[in-house]
Amino acid sequence: MHPVRKLWCRVYQTAFRIVLPVLPYREPKPLKTFGDAADLLVRKNIARVLIVTDRNITKLGLTRELEQDLTERGVAYTIFDEVVPNPTITNVEAARERYLADGCGAIIAFGGGSAMDCAKVTGARIVRPKKPVTKMRGILRVLRPLPLLIAVPTTAGTGSETTLAAVITDDKTHYKYPINDFCLIPHYAVLDYRTTLGLPAHITATTGMDALVHATEAYIGRSTTRETRERAIEAVSLIRSYLLRAYRDGSDAEARAQMLHAAYCAGIAFTKSYVGYVHAVAHSLGGQYGIAHGLANAVLLPYFLDEYGEACEKRLAELARRSGVAAADAEDAEAVRAFITWTRDMNEQMDIPATLPGIRNEDIPAMASHADAEGNPLYPVPRLMDAHELERMYHVVQDPVDACGVAEGTHETVDGAEAAPTAPGIVARMKRVVRVAGRRAKRAARRARTTVRQNR
Ligand SMILES: NC(=O)c1ccc[n+]([C@@H]2O[C@H](COP(=O)([O-])OP(=O)(O)OC[C@H]3O[C@@H](n4cnc5c(N)ncnc54)[C@H](O)[C@@H]3O)[C@@H](O)[C@H]2O)c1
Ligand SMILES: [Zn+2]
Repeated sequence: MHPVRKLWCRVYQTAFRIVLPVLPYREPKPLKTFGDAADLLVRKNIARVLIVTDRNITKLGLTRELEQDLTERGVAYTIFDEVVPNPTITNVEAARERYLADGCGAIIAFGGGSAMDCAKVTGARIVRPKKPVTKMRGILRVLRPLPLLIAVPTTAGTGSETTLAAVITDDKTHYKYPINDFCLIPHYAVLDYRTTLGLPAHITATTGMDALVHATEAYIGRSTTRETRERAIEAVSLIRSYLLRAYRDGSDAEARAQMLHAAYCAGIAFTKSYVGYVHAVAHSLGGQYGIAHGLANAVLLPYFLDEYGEACEKRLAELARRSGVAAADAEDAEAVRAFITWTRDMNEQMDIPATLPGIRNEDIPAMASHADAEGNPLYPVPRLMDAHELERMYHVVQDPVDACGVAEGTHETVDGAEAAPTAPGIVARMKRVVRVAGRRAKRAARRARTTVRQNR
């Protein structure tokens, strides 16, 4: 990155760090049960509420208990269950129409980050009828209190129930971007681990790793506070103790409850201390290809930690030691190695691949430029990178089969056309293909063993 731009980014981030104590952050007020949520609506004289969720969740019957509680207390409800993963502007507009057509007075966001983010931006559009979603991108563009918003997270997770962010995809352009505003923080949240008991193992894995990325990116960034550091440490410690347990046995109530708490802590950490380039790149991949957010984050995390190198060594080592990932007396370099190895091991044990399929070379410059626009100047990352530097990271996680011609040893001609691969390039690519095939075979064998165990 150009030194002048670097300076601008750091000045911008410092300004935000200085004003942090006076910014209107808040946490959602906790509600113990769905009955409490229904009682709250009665107290607020709300006759009808919009439940924003997705079809999978309604099909599983997860909203049934809430619906019963609302009916018992005489609160009418409309269910909008058309939210898709990586929720779109079309989702938001359709939810808003239902809200207005049915005369709703509040919103319950019921689901993972997708449902919660869609609900947040639906609320923003209701109070900002003349401002399209595209004009809300960035920070502080809503600036008006939302209708009463209650969040019920069913993945653990995004932490969206406590953050000021909502990430939306423009379905016309495939551009996925965050909208950040204090008014998007839900007013209330119901953290009930029972809603997460049926979460399939692979979603448990990737959403749990998303929470790990939140805590890690917040901790190694340059705008932490004592509170956000403590919350990040708590999140990583809990993820270390409980994620594999929840992954292996979805009905483990203690593991589910602790993971829900971990995701919440990580949410608190990053809503004040930001995420970083792992997220910026993951969002661009989600917008372009619909890659699940947690999956992209999980795959990217160890590569970015490697890439930051010394720039994050001190902080990452401290996080590793204090969360128990590394020994309490480990030297910085050793602790960092332990942390990065641990993230790779976690991925491997939960069948999360080391690369992402489908990344096309021709899409990389535009995705990198979106990631640059998201991350700079806002995210106080350990080492600043511009679009050009970020491009490399897409190649690093690109499945070798999709890479076709950009593996090590190839080069571009002056007019941008790819030159014929060189012999070392072909060898390097073949090595990568063999490596990935080996990992896939290992994963398939592990899956087969698990199935046999479960069928016994
Ligand atoms: N606002 C924020 O602060 C924030 C933070 C991180 C991520 N995000 C965004 O959140 C989105 C991802 O959210 P997510 O990872 O929670 O996934 P998701 O909401 O997209 O859900 C993934 C899948 O899991 C299913 N599912 C959810 N809960 C279930 C349950 N209890 N049982 C069975 N199936 C269930 C859903 O139906 C869906 O098919 C992305 O768009 C991401 O950008 C937002
Ligand atoms: Zn995330």
